[in-house]
Amino acid sequence: MTPNSKSFVPQGARRFWPFVVGTRWACSSPPWNAQLLLCSSLLEGVIGIQSNEPRENWKTLPRDQLATQMHEGGAGIEHPSRTFVASLIHKGESVLDVGCGAGAGYEALDSLGLESRYLGIDSSEQSIEIARSLYPAGDFRIGSATALVSQFGRDRFDVVLVRHVLEHLTDFEAAMNEAISVSRRLAIFVFFLTPRSLPLGVRKLDLRFNSPLFYTYVYSRRAINRFLNGCGLHWRWYDHLGISRAGWFAHEVNSALVVSRDKSQLA
Ligand SMILES: C[S@@+](CC[C@H](N)C(=O)[O-])C[C@H]1O[C@@H](n2cnc3c(N)ncnc32)[C@H](O)[C@@H]1O
Repeated sequence: MTPNSKSFVPQGARRFWPFVVGTRWACSSPPWNAQLLLCSSLLEGVIGIQSNEPRENWKTLPRDQLATQMHEGGAGIEHPSRTFVASLIHKGESVLDVGCGAGAGYEALDSLGLESRYLGIDSSEQSIEIARSLYPAGDFRIGSATALVSQFGRDRFDVVLVRHVLEHLTDFEAAMNEAISVSRRLAIFVFFLTPRSLPLGVRKLDLRFNSPLFYTYVYSRRAINRFLNGCGLHWRWYDHLGISRAGWFAHEVNSALVVSRDKSQLA
């Protein structure tokens, strides 16, 4: 893990083309036209015709898939990025887990005895039902990452966690702004597609795996830094927090962005 790294390039990639496609470390085989798909995404970004329509297909995925996807295959409580998040939370703090899915984040905190006052929200009703049945002691509710202030009010939770969600939204700003607004101490964003310098200065690139089910956007780190700077916030990046299951992209790793209004909280 490298705190505050200014740039990120996956192992084996180049700064000007920061993607590794289809080696044996990728978790699925690339389509024959993978590089072409990437180039057309880049072109869309450059000429500003990227989609801004939501693709909320989590709501209709099979129940079995929702119940196991974030619990199995190394993605569950053992994932290093979950341990990293837990290390930032003080015992007894209130935690809002935005896009909590089927509750693996709850299990991770609970297993460490943090005694968090935990609330998980997700826009997928089915995921919330599954989380409630797997973890009857947990508090799980329907909610939207882009409407947290209207649901909870400002400064309501010590820590707000948004893990593996922003890549599935049409942009990072709205959800980031909401999470920061409802947090009192820290807002933590965990990415399975690490934001990085994107070619030709584009703000987001749709990597087009699992398309058209989901967006899998990788965002420009510079654009995120600019946004946070404009809000007068303090932040730190942490890279290399465990491998990502990133479709046909190899050498993708989790990273975390930790944001606070109070600089001393990032020490
Ligand atoms: C990859 S899963 C991550 C689950 C969980 N955070 C974890 O790390 O185990 C993404 C989750 O984000 C949820 N999600 C997507 N868009 C959302 C939105 N606008 N508001 C709330 N949840 C959303 C999906 O329903 C899904 O459960």
